Amino acid sequence: MSLYRPVTIGPLALDGNVFFAPLSGVSTSPVRKLAREFGANLVYSEMIKAQGVVHGNIKSRHYLEMDPDEHPVGVQLADADPKALVEAAHAALDRGADLIDLNCGCPVKKVVKTECGAALLKDPPLIGRIIRELRAAVPDHIPVTLKIRVGWDGLNKNGPHVAKIAEDNGAAAVTVHGRTREQLYSGRVDLEMIAKVKAAVSIPVIGNGDILTPEDAKRMLETTGCDGVMVGRGAVGNPWLFGRIRAHLEGRPAPEPGVDEKRKGLVRMLALLCASHGDYTGVRMMRKFVGWFTHGVPGGKRFRGDMMEIEDPAVLAAFIDARFGVRLGGLDEDEAPARVAAGED
Ligand SMILES: Cc1cc2nc3c(=O)[nH]c(=O)nc-3n(C[C@H](O)[C@H](O)[C@H](O)COP(=O)(O)O)c2cc1C
Repeated sequence: MSLYRPVTIGPLALDGNVFFAPLSGVSTSPVRKLAREFGANLVYSEMIKAQGVVHGNIKSRHYLEMDPDEHPVGVQLADADPKALVEAAHAALDRGADLIDLNCGCPVKKVVKTECGAALLKDPPLIGRIIRELRAAVPDHIPVTLKIRVGWDGLNKNGPHVAKIAEDNGAAAVTVHGRTREQLYSGRVDLEMIAKVKAAVSIPVIGNGDILTPEDAKRMLETTGCDGVMVGRGAVGNPWLFGRIRAHLEGRPAPEPGVDEKRKGLVRMLALLCASHGDYTGVRMMRKFVGWFTHGVPGGKRFRGDMMEIEDPAVLAAFIDARFGVRLGGLDEDEAPARVAAGED
């Protein structure tokens, strides 16, 4: 059987098992939409503080925005207060969320200081209570899930226990980033711990961490027995990874995208950003995102520098079309490697 397969999260049936991770400051609506277009089977909002939603914080409310074309989309909430989480979940459902996810993995100091994110791993009964209250508060067709790390630190790898408590209280799936909070993003993901989480529960387990290539995704599925994979950093500026993972899991060739394909992706990204955020903000966000698309591409640095001057989206699209690819950065591709070696990019 192919490792690429449908997965059902509670009542939510998904065509495949390759997901795009919640990424603060990155996984905004147009980026999620792009991920969906390129093959992600489920996408998530970035972490949204429930108290922020409850208190009408404009930024938090803005994070709830979603596009009709990006479904299925999960909204990820962070908080330790069940009441605030329930209220925020309702606001997310009003905007069309297909799934509510509880963040139990964010390692950032200012988050764990307020007992949220990965700090919840220190209080599994509270996780159970939150899941139970969310489950009771949202309609039956909406799955409630959670995203955890394998534990707080090396001495407290309680991921399997946390996952079991969550399952017993109604969680429909659990995503596991194979690091502890203490590790932040250092070291390697612990596939053995992800396998232990998988062994502890009957709900789907989504393996996460360090999936940068189709081969990494296959290793994650084969080694841990998990039901799906979630890709974060590896897909930033590289949405082709979703399709390539699928192809590899299905036993088909999974070649890297060519420059031409990348150029088309860039033009598409610009259109999505401007449609979602308006021309002014769209162009500025594009300037930020363009670094991802041109990373490691010969002549990319000059290309980025030149595009900083452009304000008009139509001019920018024409610039990308003309400059990215055949004569990126004004250089013939054949010439470019010498400039890269000289530290141009
Ligand atoms: C910039 C950045 C922002 C992140 N924001 C979130 C977030 O909002 N919610 C969350 O659960 N995880 C967040 N994460 C963690 C990722 O979802 C993921 O678990 C982690 O990066 C490991 O997967 P990867 O190696 O595929 O990136 C973030 C990670 C990064 C690098």
